[in-house]
Amino acid sequence: MEEIFNEYNTNALLKKLDEDLKKTLSEKRYNHSIGVMNKAIELAKIYKVDINKAKLVGLAHDIGKELSKEEKLKYVTENNIEVDEIESINIGLLHGKIGADICKKKYGFTKDMQNAIAYHTVGNKNMDLLAKIIFVADKIEEGRKYKDEEKLKRLDEARKIANENIDKAVLYEIDMSLEYTLKKNELIHPDSIYTRNKIIIDFE
Ligand SMILES: [Fe+2]
Ligand SMILES: [Fe+2]
Repeated sequence: MEEIFNEYNTNALLKKLDEDLKKTLSEKRYNHSIGVMNKAIELAKIYKVDINKAKLVGLAHDIGKELSKEEKLKYVTENNIEVDEIESINIGLLHGKIGADICKKKYGFTKDMQNAIAYHTVGNKNMDLLAKIIFVADKIEEGRKYKDEEKLKRLDEARKIANENIDKAVLYEIDMSLEYTLKKNELIHPDSIYTRNKIIIDFE
């Protein structure tokens, strides 16, 4: 572990992380990461979450996304990361767990920061506020644009909800992704359902 996150070294870590991402991510993904960081800061202020953590996690969340399928499989094997049934088919989903592991080992991210990265792909019933913020920020960051009118309308709606109630925003995003997954007849990760149920139970 090269660095350990604490409130005093955020800027140094941010700088290092930013340099690494610039080198490894495509321009499009890098810009998306900056967008998620900015949105995460915005939401962290609303929901009184540690801004430094939100900033770092927002920027880092897709650090493992552009590894090839082979590299992802190699990474999980070499680092003893557990792969579930759905992940073994949808290898891309592993970028959450891989990103969390990279950030733990390379930047000393704390457990809650690691979890926020691990959970940003399909959600998790144990998501805390930081994780919920990252989950939502990923989908509504300002760089996201759609040509489709309906999608654009929903994006506006999601941005509005996110400023008012983070649980409702998570639910909104899960429902949209479930709808999409059903339409395409793709696999649904059970953690998305568990997350959805947990939020609904908590509402009652
Ligand atoms: Fe991602
Ligand atoms: Fe992302």
